[in-house]
Amino acid sequence: MRLRTSLLAGLLSVLLVGCGSQSATITVSGVVFDEAQIAQGRQLYAQYCASCHGANGEGQFADFPLLPDETGRFGAPPHNGYGHTSHHPDDWLIAYVRDGGISLRNPALYYPMPAFGDQLSDQEIARIIAYIKTIWHERP
Ligand code: HEC
Repeated sequence: MRLRTSLLAGLLSVLLVGCGSQSATITVSGVVFDEAQIAQGRQLYAQYCASCHGANGEGQFADFPLLPDETGRFGAPPHNGYGHTSHHPDDWLIAYVRDGGISLRNPALYYPMPAFGDQLSDQEIARIIAYIKTIWHERP
């Protein structure tokens, strides 16, 4: 009986630790990213992405992030839970940031999503994606 109780207590503590949101493991293309790498991704996001996608991933037009503005163009979409960034595979996301967006081919419909391949390495982009993964289900 005692063994059972301590087993149960052990199981409970594993469950509790597992539920702490901070300890959730973030992977990008199968590689695990630690907190320091994610913090670097956050810094790079602030430097290269936040001016369009919003400081907290709320999108270029935070009030109506998924609609075109009066010029008929879509802005930078949100990377939080109101967007759809989480629906894309990791490799696609990295390539998209490296090579630029659909807007480069269709500037009449979208504000520009530049290519970052000459400024950021794939590794740096992956760190940014790792950071985005920490916010992409948030709906503030
Ligand atoms: C100059 C404004 C601008 C900057 C800076 C910018 N983006 Fe974008 N981004 C856009 C726009 C506009 C779109 C939508 C049109 C398109 O996809 O071409 C977009 C689309 C995207 C998409 C595809 C949509 C989605 O949610 O999956 C991703 C991913 C993305 N951006 C990531 C980034 C990352 C990461 C950075 C920083 C390295 C960044 N963007 C910097 C404007 C920008």
